[in-house]
Amino acid sequence: MLLQLHKRKMAIAGTVMSGYLIFHMLTNLSFFNQAYFTDFYTWYNAGLRWPVLVIMAIAIAIHVKAAIKIRKVNAKARTVQYEKHDKFHVPAPLVTMSIIFLLAFMVIHIIQTLLFDSNNVYMELQQLFQSTFMVLFYLAGLFVMMMHLTHSLANVLQTLGKTSKTCHTLVWAGVLLLVGGFAIIPVSILWATL
Ligand code: HEM
Repeated sequence: MLLQLHKRKMAIAGTVMSGYLIFHMLTNLSFFNQAYFTDFYTWYNAGLRWPVLVIMAIAIAIHVKAAIKIRKVNAKARTVQYEKHDKFHVPAPLVTMSIIFLLAFMVIHIIQTLLFDSNNVYMELQQLFQSTFMVLFYLAGLFVMMMHLTHSLANVLQTLGKTSKTCHTLVWAGVLLLVGGFAIIPVSILWATL
């Protein structure tokens, strides 16, 4: 019963974050039209930015708290370890480290954008991604986010009883489009400087 409640909280927070990610990726694509991008962020920063940031911070906190609770309940209930029959079994410490990295990536990204001159977000991004290190850092963050999304969405599909190959292919295709849509900005900026 308690487990179901935590799972529901985690799923709701995850859905809110996924909705934001799709919105964020699609609006960021306007980067390829400087005037449109600048107009969008001028409008967005005038009233939406802070409410969105607060909602995202709450969603992340609920998602992480529920995940920790679920882990604890499962660890208590499990007296015999699962048999490891996944083809690509990822050791638990590596999963934990990747999630810590993902959280650190989000915190660093939010701090970086808060330090941006909000009247010139376009030039700020241009400047940020002149650095190969920053581009690699963002690509690493996006890679970990891709692994996290495909893994957790596969779990959601399993809970819903949808285990067909078509469902999994659709999940992978959606996640790749999302990550690709984000990655194209840093990669194209760095590419233009080479
Ligand atoms: C290369 C990929 C990305 C680019 C170019 C990018 C760009 C931006 C920009 C321009 C802003 C807002 C600056 C402003 O309002 O003045 C922002 C804010 C933000 N980004 Fe990203 N972002 C990227 C990836 C991500 C990812 C993967 C996440 C989540 C995991 C994320 C989460 C956020 C959040 C929570 C905010 C603060 C709320 C907001 O202003 O909308 N971003 N990002």
